[in-house]
Amino acid sequence: MDFDSDSSDLRSAHVIVVGNEKGGAGKSTISIHVTVALLKAGYRVASIDLDTRQQTLTRFFENRRSWSANANWPIELPHHCAMGRGESADLRENEAREFADFAAAIGAVEHDYEFVVIDTPASDSYLMRLAHSLADTLISPLNDSYIDVDVFSRVNHDRKQRGAVAHYADLVLEARRKRQLVDNGVIDWIMVRNRMASLANNNAKQIAISIARIGAELRFRIADGFHDRVIFRELFPIGLTALDAIEQGAQKGALTSSQQSARQEIENLVESLQLPTRTPGVEHIESRRLWHARVSDFYRAPSADAHDFS
Ligand SMILES: Nc1ncnc2c1ncn2[C@@H]1O[C@H](COP(=O)(O)OP(=O)(O)OP(=O)(O)O)[C@@H](O)[C@H]1O
Ligand SMILES: [Mg+2]
Repeated sequence: MDFDSDSSDLRSAHVIVVGNEKGGAGKSTISIHVTVALLKAGYRVASIDLDTRQQTLTRFFENRRSWSANANWPIELPHHCAMGRGESADLRENEAREFADFAAAIGAVEHDYEFVVIDTPASDSYLMRLAHSLADTLISPLNDSYIDVDVFSRVNHDRKQRGAVAHYADLVLEARRKRQLVDNGVIDWIMVRNRMASLANNNAKQIAISIARIGAELRFRIADGFHDRVIFRELFPIGLTALDAIEQGAQKGALTSSQQSARQEIENLVESLQLPTRTPGVEHIESRRLWHARVSDFYRAPSADAHDFS
């Protein structure tokens, strides 16, 4: 991945949204690792936390910043922004404010950063839908469980009922439709398996078959993400990842096999995202300008009731 350094004035950031309405699927874990991997690869990265309640991504980068200051160990940090939620009783007013804040957050970084990584909450919200409509790459983490598959395509013992598009997938398809209308943009949707078991099992095989079938219908790609590893969760309090030189901090000198495997998985995941190798330039900037100008109306049109889709 090599951005053309002569065209900095033409850059418009590639937006990576990590979303899935299923709680606990690994959105924040993937947001953290993709952001750190891109920083380590030398990119200028901004991150936006749309999970106004849990703020996992924000907490992680706070921990990273304070750990690095304490340990006097310089470390890569993104330009981070945590979004707030409109608190007024008037829904329209809240949406207008959230749109303005989100557009300002994007506007502040889109020309100075090569990637923007957005972590989203599990609950449906105006902000969450808005972010999906701006994605150039959408990553949806998915555990090897039919409960996780069910938020994309209804799983049912009755074959005739199989395949009904479920609520989250519907939200993504709607975001795609609107995005195409707004600026002719394309959302590259990638289903990333997370917390995979280390031993192959029949359940995982069946899930892989189901996901491949649904992927062909809903037009998403499938990538292997992370195995279930303690290293993906134990470093949160100090804001580090397996990509950081924790072996030096622990004065062990060598990578543990778990750190090595985790690093490989993170690198493979970033590779399989097939992120742009150069700035998309003027065309992309013009699309973003159109998105800012038009999308607010689309998302607030009465026909597009963004809040009741159960
Ligand atoms: N590959 C993994 N290996 C081990 N633990 C993991 C892995 N992925 C996620 N976890 C753990 O699973 C839990 C849920 O992960 P995470 O918070 O990233 O999910 P989420 O989709 O962001 O959740 P929410 O919907 O609540 O925002 C966390 O405890 C996290 O540390
Ligand atoms: Mg989260």
